[in-house]
Amino acid sequence: MEHCELTGFFSAAQRARLLQATARRFSVRTYTGEADAPQLSALQFAAQKLKLPGVRIVISHCEESKLYKKLPGVTPITGTGLFAAVVVDTEIPYARYHAGICGEAFVLEAFSLGLGACWIGSFKKSGLKIETADFEEVLAVIPFGTFDGEVSPRKRKSLNDICTGNPTDWPLWAYNAAECVRSAPSAMNLQPWHLNFAGRTMLLSKKGLGTQLDLGIALLHMSLGVGEKEHVIRWEEGKHVASLLAEDRLT
Ligand SMILES: Cc1cc2nc3c(=O)[nH]c(=O)nc-3n(C[C@H](O)[C@H](O)[C@H](O)COP(=O)(O)O)c2cc1C
Repeated sequence: MEHCELTGFFSAAQRARLLQATARRFSVRTYTGEADAPQLSALQFAAQKLKLPGVRIVISHCEESKLYKKLPGVTPITGTGLFAAVVVDTEIPYARYHAGICGEAFVLEAFSLGLGACWIGSFKKSGLKIETADFEEVLAVIPFGTFDGEVSPRKRKSLNDICTGNPTDWPLWAYNAAECVRSAPSAMNLQPWHLNFAGRTMLLSKKGLGTQLDLGIALLHMSLGVGEKEHVIRWEEGKHVASLLAEDRLT
């Protein structure tokens, strides 16, 4: 069980801000314009700080038609050329999980500034004008900008479908963490995760066709959902992704 770098990575203020944004976040694909200068510099600052091992977030600009694919039945990205590229060093352990954590934190920072954002895993690599090393890969891009409208209702599995046992019997922090995982975005909305609780430990596991990116996103939501309660996260093995131990006093 290896120590996970997400433990203690965010300040209390940042955790509170990101947690609030989880309730407002949804995938915005139709934008009304681009971030203004203060919003952009706040996001540049956030991107600089979102550096777990093997990940960097690069803000760039593009012509939408050159980067985004037109897929049947999916609303295309329009109205903003600004995006963040989530770049991983493929040789660093856990880099793809770290990419999910850092990319989702970036998305939530955008929402906390009143902007919208959307993870895009299926994009035209030829449209990217970002320098990368041979050992690096751009896992996803995240367009962001202003938008009109309210949070779209989320289509989600029920809490009972993603948890073993009855989460209403769990301590409040664990129940809240499970609800926060439930609201997390995933590619094709597959929600490829499962949660278990025993003792003082929550276990996040992969279920179905999930990627490490999806599970990294879920892990960030799980940690944010715990709220102010101190906790320690460790990587697990196989289909078990990570465990989160929370108690009043950690030694
Ligand atoms: C890793 C990842 C990749 C995604 N790729 C795409 C994509 O290529 N195109 C797209 O329109 N949406 C994409 N999405 C957005 C999901 O479809 C969306 O998160 C999911 O349907 C849940 O909806 P919500 O984000 O509004 O809660 C992606 C989401 C994630 C997390």
